[in-house]
Amino acid sequence: MAGFNVNDDPTTNSGAKTGAVSTADIARAQEQIFAPGRSSRDKYQDLVVGRPGFAALAKYELVVMLCQGLAGAAGLAMRQMMYPWLLGSCGRGVVFGQNVVLRHPHKIHIGSNVVIDDNCLVDAKGDTNLGIRIGNGVFIGRNTILSCKNGDIQVADGANLGFNCEVFSASRVTIGRNVLIAAYSYIIGGDHDFSDPAKAVISQPRVSAGVTIGDGAWIGAGAKILDGVAIGDHAVVGAAALVRENVPAGTIAVGIPARVVGSRSGRA
Ligand SMILES: CC(C)(COP(=O)(O)OP(=O)(O)OC[C@H]1O[C@@H](n2cnc3c(N)ncnc32)[C@H](O)[C@@H]1OP(=O)(O)O)[C@@H](O)C(=O)NCCC(=O)NCCS
Repeated sequence: MAGFNVNDDPTTNSGAKTGAVSTADIARAQEQIFAPGRSSRDKYQDLVVGRPGFAALAKYELVVMLCQGLAGAAGLAMRQMMYPWLLGSCGRGVVFGQNVVLRHPHKIHIGSNVVIDDNCLVDAKGDTNLGIRIGNGVFIGRNTILSCKNGDIQVADGANLGFNCEVFSASRVTIGRNVLIAAYSYIIGGDHDFSDPAKAVISQPRVSAGVTIGDGAWIGAGAKILDGVAIGDHAVVGAAALVRENVPAGTIAVGIPARVVGSRSGRA
């Protein structure tokens, strides 16, 4: 499969603020799960399989039953053989750890030589989204969640996401080539409108502008990147930072809220 670089994509760049906030078309989880008049099978199929019809359900269930939880080398071999049956596309030499869960897998595209470690969730859920695209040579650490709510996530070649990270997208999140995201980081590509004080936040619309992380950037452990932020190429975000504003290319930003304190080529 061809490599993937977000800088090839004319809709992203490393310096500009991510696109305007749009109201995200996201149903509340409870509404979807407890919607009256729909069978449990229909809801499961909507949320997990993502395709209608008994054949799609049966195929998904067969793969999950036979290999999702299987331990050891046999599990790795079975998932390597069977998970591509569900995926939109999958290159060579892809390792799926134990209990890797795929949702709406036909909208998930994976390059070659990718590792998706144990207990990851790769969730391309949505009615009108394109889904998740992972380039060649990407590593996704154990327990990490890539979660779409009618948004898209793109992870370019060579990126490395540590353990226990979350990448959420209600519009578009792009992670550039050779980006390093340390453990426990959260990329928050969607938000809540809370403008009506009389209403619970959960009852107000979702909004999303997306997040862009440029090539070669390093996101320190436990950092939180809020919706609408663009991190420039080769920028560094310190451990535990809370990033609300764009971080220019080649700079170092730390703290809560994150402020630029230096540059990769010397103190600013
Ligand atoms: C951001 C980072 C790279 C800066 O390294 P550095 O350039 O050597 O930084 P310095 O030690 O010169 O610190 C510069 C200033 O920023 C502050 N600072 C550095 N890192 C900080 C952080 N994560 N949060 C808050 N402040 C931080 C320092 O206290 C110092 O402040 P001062 O000038 O008021 O004394 C580093 O501190 C960091 O957070 N690395 C991430 C480590 C990590 O998460 N590793 C996971 C493995 S992938």
